[in-house]
Amino acid sequence: MAEQAPIKVFITGACAGLAEVRQALSTHPDIEIVGTAVEPGKADQKLAASGASIVLHGSARGDRLPAAEIESIRHATAAPIILVTSGAAGGLLGEALSAGIADVIMLPQLTDALVFTIQKTAAMVAARAAGPTMALRSSSSEGKVLTVFSPKGGVGKSVIATSLATQIARRCGRRVLLVDLDLQFGDVAIMMGVEPEKTIYDLVMTTGELDPEKLAGYVIPHASGVDVVPAPVRPEDAELVAEDRVGRLLDVAKETYDAIVVDTPAHFQATTLATLDRTDRLLLVASLDIPTVKNVKLTLQTLNLLHYPKDRINLVVNRNMSKADLDRKDVEKALELKIAFEIPGDREVGLALNRGIPVPMSAPRSAVTKAINEMADAFFERHAAKSLDAARKGAVKRPSFKLRKAA
Ligand SMILES: Nc1ncnc2c1ncn2[C@@H]1O[C@H](COP(=O)(O)OP(=O)(O)O)[C@@H](O)[C@H]1O
Ligand SMILES: [Mg+2]
Repeated sequence: MAEQAPIKVFITGACAGLAEVRQALSTHPDIEIVGTAVEPGKADQKLAASGASIVLHGSARGDRLPAAEIESIRHATAAPIILVTSGAAGGLLGEALSAGIADVIMLPQLTDALVFTIQKTAAMVAARAAGPTMALRSSSSEGKVLTVFSPKGGVGKSVIATSLATQIARRCGRRVLLVDLDLQFGDVAIMMGVEPEKTIYDLVMTTGELDPEKLAGYVIPHASGVDVVPAPVRPEDAELVAEDRVGRLLDVAKETYDAIVVDTPAHFQATTLATLDRTDRLLLVASLDIPTVKNVKLTLQTLNLLHYPKDRINLVVNRNMSKADLDRKDVEKALELKIAFEIPGDREVGLALNRGIPVPMSAPRSAVTKAINEMADAFFERHAAKSLDAARKGAVKRPSFKLRKAA
């Protein structure tokens, strides 16, 4: 799904600043303007034929919904509509959303913010199309566990776990705990560039019951806002990290964090099983080569035996710079699972690793970051920059977490 083709945008209507928006978008690499029409009612054929994936409709009135014009657009295309207005849009947002408008943009606006809203809308539509069920909002307010797993080493689990955790914190404004359960060879601390002063070993070796306060004393804060629990420094300590303690760690973390991202080793261990029990989203990572696909198939069989719900599994294809290039359709057929996310190969990943900076912070404009952002947005709603600080301070209500079926 993470095809890098520009998003096709059709611009309708008129309002102050819309010409500037059009100008800015027309030169943006991620956007392709496929047409414009001041009066959508007179351009329905043009609109229908444009192949637009988003309609940006400008309305000078910020105080009421341009119902007739929206009707005309709907008539011509099923593409989501983003309303753009220069007027003071008092109660418009609520009204617009309940009328099925995807979003409302108040002008003036930075181009990046505009583009982001367009990308987010397109990603949401793609997410909906990818699964037979719509995104469900979890009823529970507990933190969600997202586990990154693959039966193969070197497919990019740790790159994905660190990048995703970073963006759920930065982009979605959530409280995120990143746990390295690759107990012997974990390199989350290195990838995040943090000193593993305390590790999961120290955490599970504490006496007495673990509680949120205790947990807080054992996490290592990262500049992104993510709290990190690194793998043990000495590989031999790995054995002492028992699964019941890991289970408890996750249970406690759910009380204080919105998202718990877990990186794992390339095989099932007792600790992995304890994690699976608590996993809301299993990101199963594969590269497009036969050995990996074969092992992923075996993993799916194992998960089935464990009665792990298939609808919580998201297949992630990571291109990983390898030459491997199996046909996606064949892979989906072999695994009986749709590819939920695809991450392109990018030299920036290696550079980021060497700097000890997570990819989204080292290469924010890279294709990999874009794919990771799509992933983050599929799980958590994005929050405006303003609410991000508030969310960190715990002042914002719990997030909505979107669970959607992968197959
Ligand atoms: N999308 C990507 N593009 C380029 N290189 C990647 C990508 N994903 C992973 N890599 C590279 O692959 C190697 C293995 O990644 P890593 O995340 O450590 O795998 P795992 O945790 O599955 O063992 C790293 O050297 C990393 O730089
Ligand atoms: Mg790893």
